[in-house]
Amino acid sequence: MPIVLATIVGCASATTTAEGPPPSSTTSTVPAGTSSTAAPTTTTTVVDEDVVAQPADFKNLKDMSKVRGMFVDNLLGHLPEAIAVAENPEGGIFPVGTVIQLVPQEAMIKRKAGFSPAFGDWEFFELVTSADGTVISKRGGAEVVNRFGGKSCAACHVKADIKFDFICEKTHGCDPLPVPDAVFIALQDGDNRPRVKAGVPS
Ligand code: HEC
Repeated sequence: MPIVLATIVGCASATTTAEGPPPSSTTSTVPAGTSSTAAPTTTTTVVDEDVVAQPADFKNLKDMSKVRGMFVDNLLGHLPEAIAVAENPEGGIFPVGTVIQLVPQEAMIKRKAGFSPAFGDWEFFELVTSADGTVISKRGGAEVVNRFGGKSCAACHVKADIKFDFICEKTHGCDPLPVPDAVFIALQDGDNRPRVKAGVPS
């Protein structure tokens, strides 16, 4: 289970000051463009949710939700909202607790506002995966560097059009990775971590 940090506060503190992220992220974990039916069942009292992911929180990609070429999860129960943002052609701000992966070895997790305001409050991870599960080898904000080029994750992802909340994909304005899609697919297919449901082949 993730270590969930949630501060229950009154409505008065629902206006957190946001430094870096786009305007639509200021007061709510409900991404712009999603209908209110997707709002968290906790109403508006939990405004300070956060999650410090542990190795066991990372799933086999096959147990995450695939949206185009990427894999989406949410550790705080906001998966429908996270998928809605990922599927929205206009983008949006992902809810806290969202996990995004392209390959088993790298992940981004949305932390609470203020974690890393200049970089969308994303925590970047480098992971080592095997049939035993996941080991977190690096985690943090702008200082985390990727294995393909020695460049920081944030330095590339910050180039994504701000409406896409630091998600690059192919068309959001990031410098492309010097890696053909076949390599991503091979890495995805090679994810041999245990499945959520025991007995399902990896
Ligand atoms: C050289 C620039 C660059 C660096 C450095 C980089 N990325 Fe990316 N990242 C990209 C691009 C471009 C894509 C989209 C790839 C695609 O879909 O073809 C991407 C895709 C992703 C995705 C899938 C969601 C998305 O944005 O499309 C995740 C998650 C991700 N990277 C995490 C990381 C992490 C974690 C690091 C550091 C350990 C990192 N990246 C370093 C450019 C970079």
